[in-house]
Amino acid sequence: MITEFVFASNNKHKLEEIRAISKNKIRIICPEDLGFIGEIPENQASLEGNALQKARFIYDKFSLNCFADDTGLEVEALNGRPGVYSARYAGEGKSSADNVKKLLHELHDNSNRNARFRTVIALVLDGKDYFFEGIAEGKIITELRGQSGFGYDPVFMPLGFDETYAEIPIDVKNRISHRAAAFEKLFYFLTHSHIK
Ligand code: IMP
Repeated sequence: MITEFVFASNNKHKLEEIRAISKNKIRIICPEDLGFIGEIPENQASLEGNALQKARFIYDKFSLNCFADDTGLEVEALNGRPGVYSARYAGEGKSSADNVKKLLHELHDNSNRNARFRTVIALVLDGKDYFFEGIAEGKIITELRGQSGFGYDPVFMPLGFDETYAEIPIDVKNRISHRAAAFEKLFYFLTHSHIK
């Protein structure tokens, strides 16, 4: 069984979260561990495109099996926006608070508040591409609630909860989130598939 993978991100917080989900069954290193601290390109028009671009970039550079993720918030009444542009919805260099403000403004009093977070993971394993998807359905509430988390957490209420992602304890969020769902699929594949 292959036991070492590169996670194509230098985001330490994400790395820790993903190591916790993997229950340390697999050794996960990051580009920094390989001496690479530069930018990993990510300029595609879809989550799948971005995830694959990042994973391929590191795979091609180091010839090591690699995976990468990309996430977007897809709002039904906005035809799936902000989607792949979630991080810079209000413009380049704007804050999460600006993004949330723009989202609430665009939705205004629209009664359709349905939204979902979607995470796509691309895995490049022995030169072959694989994709894994995790979705968290929910709705966008009309005001900000809660202090924890990041990004759109204060306005996203996951299905089956009366609290936003920013109100739910972080360990619970990390169990039910879109990212957790996608990484569970990846780790199931890595630990149960033909590559054993
Ligand atoms: P990334 O691909 O994980 O960097 O996510 C892109 C953007 O989606 C982030 O900059 C956030 O705005 C948003 N996002 C991703 N995951 C979450 C989450 O768990 N809560 C709130 N916002 C998120």
